[in-house]
Amino acid sequence: MCGIVAYTGSNQAFDFLIKGLQRLEYRGYDSAGIALLNGGLSVYKQKGKVQDLIELTKGKDVHGTTGMGHTRWATHGEPNQINAHPHVSQNGDLAVIHNGIIENYATLKEALLKRGHEFESDTDTEVLIHLIEDIRNHEGVDLLEAVRLALNEVVGAYAIVILSKNDPGTLIGARKGSPLVVGIGKDNEEFFMASDATPIVEYTRDVIYLEDNEIAHIANGELKVKTIQNVEKTPYIHKLEVTLEAIEKGGYEHFMLKEIYEQPKSIYDSMRGRFNKNDLTFAMRSLREYESKIKNLNRIIIVGCGTSWHAGLVGEYLIEEFARLPVEVEYASEFRYRDPIITEDDLVIAISQSGETADTLAALELAKEKGATIYGICNVVGSSIPRITHAGAYTHAGPEIGVASTKAFTAQVTVLTLIALGIAEIRGKITKERLRQVFAELEVLPEKVEHVLKNCADKVLEISERYKDAENFLYLGRGVNFPVALEGALKLKEISYIHAEGYPAAEMKHGPIALIDENMPVVVVAPKRGYYEKVLSNIQEVKARKGNIISIVTEGDDKVKSISDYAIEIPDTEDCLVPILATIPMQLLSYHIAVMRGCNVDQPRNLAKSVTVE
Ligand code: F6R
Repeated sequence: MCGIVAYTGSNQAFDFLIKGLQRLEYRGYDSAGIALLNGGLSVYKQKGKVQDLIELTKGKDVHGTTGMGHTRWATHGEPNQINAHPHVSQNGDLAVIHNGIIENYATLKEALLKRGHEFESDTDTEVLIHLIEDIRNHEGVDLLEAVRLALNEVVGAYAIVILSKNDPGTLIGARKGSPLVVGIGKDNEEFFMASDATPIVEYTRDVIYLEDNEIAHIANGELKVKTIQNVEKTPYIHKLEVTLEAIEKGGYEHFMLKEIYEQPKSIYDSMRGRFNKNDLTFAMRSLREYESKIKNLNRIIIVGCGTSWHAGLVGEYLIEEFARLPVEVEYASEFRYRDPIITEDDLVIAISQSGETADTLAALELAKEKGATIYGICNVVGSSIPRITHAGAYTHAGPEIGVASTKAFTAQVTVLTLIALGIAEIRGKITKERLRQVFAELEVLPEKVEHVLKNCADKVLEISERYKDAENFLYLGRGVNFPVALEGALKLKEISYIHAEGYPAAEMKHGPIALIDENMPVVVVAPKRGYYEKVLSNIQEVKARKGNIISIVTEGDDKVKSISDYAIEIPDTEDCLVPILATIPMQLLSYHIAVMRGCNVDQPRNLAKSVTVE
């Protein structure tokens, strides 16, 4: 969490920094700040959002061709002006912005206090810049060497940028565990740094993704990269593929709405070129290269957090159904700390939109250490998880900026469907006929998603209006649609702050049924396939207790409709693809309810999109 951005070049830095912070605001919005070099070192910071920072800087001198900015998701120290970044050193010459956590900051701080340092904030970050200054003064080394030596003393995760009053035109950035992208302008006339490529793409397509333990040093129009072990590196320049339109709202009121409506395309992109329905083959290199491994697998473990964990649960149903291989799905945060039993015949799949989630990354590192083959399903190209895995598949959903995950989830489920089918085919567990059926449905899935989006819009608005003031919601589903219920509940609670719980429909009678009365809206995924009759009985149980039924039903199914207060229709499809179609009305329901309640849907309170702390 936290977004960082920096610039040095021949143009004024301020506008780039502010625009960049707005693009990165999804990473945290507790406070925002900037520092500019303009003969001196000017720092402006403010509790709240980037807009508050803009207000603060109105009428102030913000000139300077080198500068940096930060948008914070608070970890150490409450979200106030003092704890906002940038933080400056004791003599005020150096400033730092930081994304991550310095775990040994208390020990470092104690030593610095003994040497006469005084601290203004409660943050771990301020300790780091004091440490750098202390080393520079006492060891008599230059700034770059002081940064390198300091980072050797640090335990934890960081992406940092450092400015020095006495080094105009110089930016020093470093990373370990948190992302940092360096953009290289035309003819090396300007350089950019940012937590992701979105602030940079408007200015250059040439970027380098710093590796862990690397330091980027930009001075006199030249970029050099070395490790904290002092080894010079030749950076690999990537060409950015993301377009500017992909990171703008494009006429929608919120990113979340835009991303919901992008799903016909994002789902298509997530499967494009990955199978051939005519000769029934797969073109997923990540599976082909590991064919012999896949044939001998003992089991699959899927790790993830939040929405990605829900996608993993869908994956469990699909892989077990098609490939007949045992699958366990674990919260990455639990998995990493419980000394799990992992063998070389396990495949560990990490699912992560950002590719940066600290717990997921750590779980994967642990599995790798224990000899498992590790595989990533990520959305952000070049992020940390794809860089440590043996193999993987990008979801290609395009940038997801709304904090609540929508199109990333449906793309993850699409990719998991392909993986389930691919593994089944490699292990000889699926017939050609069955493959043909699922491929045919996959091919028309984007159209069906489009159809759901068009068809359910009015009904969802009506339901939202009716239940926007509810205090609780229940979501129920069975089989592969149970994770869909979990996801529906998560979506509602995180953006509308209504308490919502997802349950396997049949579990309701073991407790949650006590909550049901005439005020309880219950969203039930009840497609004509799967456990239709069973779900029907569960609906009757809710009805008998006067609960309000909002059902998601297959088009033409009048039976469930007739006992529902509201029914949303989705087209018929294969069982395994129902989760994708059923999720869409739930996303819209959460969105509209949140908007009607006046909530900030793109930046819900206390959340951040990329959770790089554990
Ligand atoms: C919910 C949401 C979060 C993320 C979770 C994992 O809408 O977005 O629950 O799914 O923080 O993030 P990634 O997928 O980036 O690892």
